[in-house]
Amino acid sequence: MEQVRFAVIGAGFMGSLLARIGHALPYACCVAVADVDGGRAQVLARQCEATAYRDYRDMLKREQVGAVIVATPEFDHREPALAAAQQGCHLFVEKPLATTLDDADAIIKACSDAGTQLMVGHILRFESGYAMLKQAIESGNIGRFLSAYARRNTPISEARRLAGRVSPVTYIAVHDIDQFLWYHPVTVKAVSAKAVRGQVWEELKTYDFAWITIEFEDGALAVEEVGWGLPETWAGWASPASWGGFGDVQMNVIGTQGVLNLNLTPMNVMACDREGWKLPDTRHWPNLNGKPAGAARLELEHFFECVAQGDTPVVTGADGRRSLEVVLAAEQSIAGDCTVYLHH
Ligand SMILES: NC(=O)c1ccc[n+]([C@@H]2O[C@H](COP(=O)([O-])OP(=O)(O)OC[C@H]3O[C@@H](n4cnc5c(N)ncnc54)[C@H](O)[C@@H]3O)[C@@H](O)[C@H]2O)c1
Repeated sequence: MEQVRFAVIGAGFMGSLLARIGHALPYACCVAVADVDGGRAQVLARQCEATAYRDYRDMLKREQVGAVIVATPEFDHREPALAAAQQGCHLFVEKPLATTLDDADAIIKACSDAGTQLMVGHILRFESGYAMLKQAIESGNIGRFLSAYARRNTPISEARRLAGRVSPVTYIAVHDIDQFLWYHPVTVKAVSAKAVRGQVWEELKTYDFAWITIEFEDGALAVEEVGWGLPETWAGWASPASWGGFGDVQMNVIGTQGVLNLNLTPMNVMACDREGWKLPDTRHWPNLNGKPAGAARLELEHFFECVAQGDTPVVTGADGRRSLEVVLAAEQSIAGDCTVYLHH
């Protein structure tokens, strides 16, 4: 397969992870990194033997790249994505695709006009357990889909890291919302959500936890419990340094003829030592032989394969937009204390 030269815009947590994963693939090579924080760009560029830039426009002018990973903050995907698409680059845009439908539409249109691929980083589609639930639903094993329940709660350290720039519904719940819509591709009729305020609210003025109910046109329901108010001790260990923490995560799907149950709390390794209990991430981006592996690697392999072979990715811009629409309805429901009806 032809090697794809790619660039990363946004060298923070996710951009760094994805750049290192992509660069380690035999058929991709990270040649440039842009971040408004020049120091961050340089650190990542050094790791990938790439060139660092502060300004992504400057980078896109100077570098010949076939693909760009956009990993800037949630509300800042539009301009970098448009600039890259206009240069004819294939795009991997982190989730959520954007934070407004207008931005999402502009990104989708820019890629369509340029004839380039657009994949959104809904990583759970590449996590084997979630993908196996999809297979069982599609194969008819549980009969007609009736309801799903998802839980995704993370430690408060994640809320503190993002310092109030985004809510847990837009940042975290979008993962499971994408799964609900993937498992049950039926029009969403209504969304209602309530949020509770605790320690995170006091520190950062974003709510701590929320409950979201999605009602589909056929009467099926999906409910998500989401938040980032778990204590830091949930994933606060120092050793081994290569062990990353995760959260309290489940997915339960009920049909007329069966049930599917996925429990990633713990993922499959539990330990107890002088620091206490540890439930490390063994599946999303565990460290193997000094390199990140897991679902994050699988999603990028898929992206670069689609780029090289001209295939449509498993997660399209339209998928990212649909999840965003439900996220925005949930945010509106929380803010207005009302049920939000879609497509009427
Ligand atoms: N798939 C996942 O599981 C997952 C996990 C974490 C974050 N994310 C997503 O990844 C994206 C990035 O999140 P993060 O946690 O890495 O954020 P981050 O704050 O760690 O990194 C964002 C980086 O973008 C840089 N930046 C901001 N504006 C820029 C601009 N205009 N041009 C260039 N650089 C700019 C910042 O300086 C920062 O280094 C978000 O959409 C987030 O929701 C996904």
